[in-house]
Amino acid sequence: ASTGFAGFDDHMSKEIAEQPEVAARTIDALAPGVGDGSLWHGLVLPRFERVAVIGCGTSLNAGRVIASAFERLGGVPSTSFIASEAAETVIEPGTLMIALSQSGETADVLRAVDELDLSRSSLVAITNNEHSTLARRADSVLTCQAGPEIGVAATKTFVAQVVTGVATALSALVATGRMTPGEAARQVDDLKRLPDLLAHAIAVSSEALPPVVDSVLDEPGFLFLGRGSGIVFAAEGALKLKELSYRWAEHYPAGELKHGPLALIQEGTPVVVIDSGERRLESNIAEVEARGGRVIRIGGPGSTVPALGQSLTAPFPGAMDRWGPLESVVPLQMLARELAKALGHDVDKPRNLAKSVTVE
Ligand code: AGP
Repeated sequence: ASTGFAGFDDHMSKEIAEQPEVAARTIDALAPGVGDGSLWHGLVLPRFERVAVIGCGTSLNAGRVIASAFERLGGVPSTSFIASEAAETVIEPGTLMIALSQSGETADVLRAVDELDLSRSSLVAITNNEHSTLARRADSVLTCQAGPEIGVAATKTFVAQVVTGVATALSALVATGRMTPGEAARQVDDLKRLPDLLAHAIAVSSEALPPVVDSVLDEPGFLFLGRGSGIVFAAEGALKLKELSYRWAEHYPAGELKHGPLALIQEGTPVVVIDSGERRLESNIAEVEARGGRVIRIGGPGSTVPALGQSLTAPFPGAMDRWGPLESVVPLQMLARELAKALGHDVDKPRNLAKSVTVE
């Protein structure tokens, strides 16, 4: 029988399933313009010395991935601003400011764009709505190829934003002589493997997650840990989980554990670790397990939910140094959704939240 969601139980599961296709579509649309700078639609990209990203929630997390891609790919200093806190920020001349908003109508982002002094910098918008207010205010607009997203929890738009932003970074680095077109083409080839990685993550997570969810049903709080490029994915996993399951969830750089949050760990406390292969994570995991914590390891050897590049038969060397363990977002989204479903919540319309937040 039809469920009204094209064969899926809800919009969110459909949108999660669309991610490989969204990534492929986005890469196909942007790849030709990376090597020659034409991704900028004829606009002259101003010289820039640094990059700043701005956004809220999941869009801010996508922006953080993009900011670090500029740093790791091109050595460009980067920073990120929470839009609602950005008004007082001093923007240095020569800043390439990238505002991210799925809807392009988020009040905190629009206000920040209005109030920041961007007179000596350039504003690029990455949005899923090319007709939005944000798109109209920007000097340059890159539209995500995600298609409409109905679920309040952002899923496929996160992937589309990251891919769009990484392509933007590559294009900008080529256009400013920081990267050769040949090197950019090699990076794009790596990016083209992403759809398969996302599809693999969906398939594996569907099998692996149900027993994991069963084991944490009664747990009131969750910790999400990562190191380096994995930290922002820990943040995104914690955001998804609290948004959908209404359980407390915090994220930390794993090295911070012993400086406070370790006190939270007791028998059964779920600790989700984005295992991007960083050696020091093993001692953090041991610290949690020694106190009875329930480690849910995403990726890496011995993973509970293998999704990262190194768990594939054909590994994806180095990608995590460039744009982070992007495919790890899939099991994080699915964990949040499965837990929320098991608790009887509406995963498309979580309580108290709106898809587009047009008030400050
Ligand atoms: C994500 O799951 C949230 N619903 C929320 O954090 C969202 O990403 C945020 O409100 C920003 O929205 P925007 O991308 O439309 O600006």
